[in-house]
Amino acid sequence: MTPTRNERFLWGVATSSFQIEGQISNDMTDWESKGGFRSDGRNPLVGRAANHWDLWREDVRLLTELGVNSYRFSIEWSRIEPEPGKFDYTAMGRYLQLIDALLENDITPVVTLHHFTHPKWFHSLNPWHNPESVRSFVRFAETVTENILPRVPIVVTFNEPLVWLLAAYGDAKFPPGLTNLGQLMQGLHNMLAAHRETYDYIKARYPDKQVGIAHNFIVFKRAPNGIEADRRVKRLIHYFYNIMITRSFRKNRLRINFPLVLNYDEPIELDDHIDFWGVNYYYRLHVKFRLNLRRPFDLLSIPRSSGEGQSDLGWEIYPLGLAKVCRWLKSANKPIYVTENGIAANDDSMRIRFLESHLNVLQDLREDGFPIKGYFHWSFLDNYEWLEGTSAKFGLVGVDFEHGYERTLKPSGEFYRDYLTKELDSPENKG
Ligand code: FCB
Repeated sequence: MTPTRNERFLWGVATSSFQIEGQISNDMTDWESKGGFRSDGRNPLVGRAANHWDLWREDVRLLTELGVNSYRFSIEWSRIEPEPGKFDYTAMGRYLQLIDALLENDITPVVTLHHFTHPKWFHSLNPWHNPESVRSFVRFAETVTENILPRVPIVVTFNEPLVWLLAAYGDAKFPPGLTNLGQLMQGLHNMLAAHRETYDYIKARYPDKQVGIAHNFIVFKRAPNGIEADRRVKRLIHYFYNIMITRSFRKNRLRINFPLVLNYDEPIELDDHIDFWGVNYYYRLHVKFRLNLRRPFDLLSIPRSSGEGQSDLGWEIYPLGLAKVCRWLKSANKPIYVTENGIAANDDSMRIRFLESHLNVLQDLREDGFPIKGYFHWSFLDNYEWLEGTSAKFGLVGVDFEHGYERTLKPSGEFYRDYLTKELDSPENKG
């Protein structure tokens, strides 16, 4: 018996709207036009990104060439709701066409509703630290549920809410460009409330859809020969970054006590309203304590190689971290999708090694009975990386940004394709 669409292990690739589509006008393009922010300059210009808005048909063909059975992408809120409460049905139609084309090719669509970007009006009308933001997001999510999601079985409401908040409310790298940890926590509270309301709305209409959040996990390691404070800070940072959010779904409380820095403890009715946790896992970080109460999360990271090297962005390659993350998630007691995992590497052979080592860990975890339901490599295409622009190459498929956005399957793409051919041919996948 062939497993039905919802039971088969999902082997896929992931992208987000702003990073690939082009022809978008949103809070990030506004931010860019005002100069953006980056410690060594500015947010790079997005330009047309990977021009996917024009080339989407070719991209669907490339997905079939890769042999994936699933594709994770996001809906660009600014296209759907360019003015508050006014919806663009033509733009929604385009996403529907994409979804239909995927399904025709037996590729399961996994849709993210919020992947870092907002309509231009959002932050001035009801920024995330304002409780009105919840209604605003849910109105968008309801419209998408009615018009775009009917044939989509898996929905990620928010991609990495904490990562976005740290950039938008922690160190002002993203709009609205604030540095206020109290507001960061209120923003998180509201995002989680918006998740809960969206979850209830979707499940009331489509009880079979799976609705979750993609969370970014980092394995923190304290620097060797550190002082006692390093150990304590490491534990606090680990709790704040990796545990606090998943825990809030079981405890109905959002709580962090980081002495002298941040103390937040509020009830939040989440009542375990989540069907899966999306794991976005990239790297391990060696940290050392540096007393800076104004920028407490600006940790001193110690570049250190585990023997497996570092990506072009200096991220330490640490495949076993994926196993650690899955262990941390045990108490959440939910299915897991690895919703992102990948490497910025101009040298594509690094990506092959990265893939191979992480897929080995993934398969061990599956054999050990961890409830992992899918793996999505970041990324399908070379794309616009938030602070580095198109210089960071994450794609299994290369994009020539100078010449017509021409796409070429890289050797790593061939590696993944061959791996998937074997996997999908295996007796368990055939039932
Ligand atoms: C993740 C983001 C994704 C991409 C990768 C490299 O944190 O979710 O959009 O930028 O990092």
